[in-house]
Amino acid sequence: MKDTVPAIVIKNLSYTYPDGTNALRNVSIEIYKGESIAIIGPNGAGKSTLLSHLNGIIENNKGHIEIMGERLNKKNIRKIRERVGLVFQDPEDQLFMSTVFDDVAFGPINMGMSEELVRKRVKLALKKVGLVGYEDKCPHHLSYGEKKRVALATIFSMHPKILLLDEPTANLDPKARRKTIELINGYNSVKIISSHDIEMLIETCDRVFLLDKGRLVAKGDPRSIFTNEKLLAVHSLEIPLALKALGLKAFDMIRKQK
Ligand SMILES: Nc1ncnc2c1ncn2[C@@H]1O[C@H](COP(=O)(O)OP(=O)(O)OP(=O)(O)O)[C@@H](O)[C@H]1O
Ligand SMILES: [Mg+2]
Repeated sequence: MKDTVPAIVIKNLSYTYPDGTNALRNVSIEIYKGESIAIIGPNGAGKSTLLSHLNGIIENNKGHIEIMGERLNKKNIRKIRERVGLVFQDPEDQLFMSTVFDDVAFGPINMGMSEELVRKRVKLALKKVGLVGYEDKCPHHLSYGEKKRVALATIFSMHPKILLLDEPTANLDPKARRKTIELINGYNSVKIISSHDIEMLIETCDRVFLLDKGRLVAKGDPRSIFTNEKLLAVHSLEIPLALKALGLKAFDMIRKQK
C-alpha cells in the first residue's frame, strides 16, 4: 500500500556541472514510504549526480526536491542530512578521520548524541558490517572492500530514514557482497540503490528507474525492466547471464532470496 505523502519527490530536476556538462535533464520521480528503488543506467548517466542531490551535496540548478513533504533548501539541509544518508560510490570520499571509530562516530556526534549513545551506535554499526575490532585502524590502510563496509557503517550509525547507496556491491568479494545484500534487505527504510549489479538489484528492489544521458528513459517493476534484453541493450546494459539462459525462472529464483 502506498502512503499518500511521498517520502521523496524529485520534480523536473536538471543539473549542469560548472564545466557545462548536463548531468540531469528534467528528471521527475516520486518514491513512497517503504520502497526500495533501483537506479540503473550506463556510466555517466547521472546516477551519482542524482543521489548527491537527495541529501543536498549538490544543489539543484532547476527543479526541486521534497523529502518527507519538506522542500530541500539551505536552511533545512542539516536536518535533511540526518534523515537521508548517502553512502558514496567511492569510499575514499566518505572516510576522512584517522581511525575507523572516529569516522563511524562522526555522524552521531554531529547529531548531538551523548558519548554513551555514540559508543553504542558505533559498536552496533561495526557489528552490522562485520568490522568489530577495527575501531583503532586507520581507514586509509584498509582494503577497498573493508573501506566500503566502514563507509556503510558511517551511515548506519546515524539510523537514516532514507538510505542512499551508490554502487554498494562494487569490488566486494562474494561473501562481502552477500552480507551487503542481507544488510540492505534487513534495513527498514526507504532505500535508493544505484548499481550495475542487476542480480543484487533483483534481490533488493521493488521499482526500477533507468537513466541515460541525464534523462529518465524508463521505469517499471524489476521483472519487466530486468528481463527486457532489448531495452537494456539500447542503454548499454546487459541482463544477467542466468536470466539470458533460463529466463523468468531464473528471475524468480534470484528474487526469492529477497
Ligand atoms: N564534478 C564534475 N564536474 C563535471 N562533470 C561531472 C562531475 N561529476 C560528474 N560529471 C559528469 O556528469 C555526468 C554524470 O556523471 P555521474 O557520475 O552522475 O554518472 P553515473 O551514472 O553515476 O556513472 P557511473 O556508472 O560511472 O558511476 C558524466 O558525464 C560525468 O562526466
Ligand atoms: Mg556513479
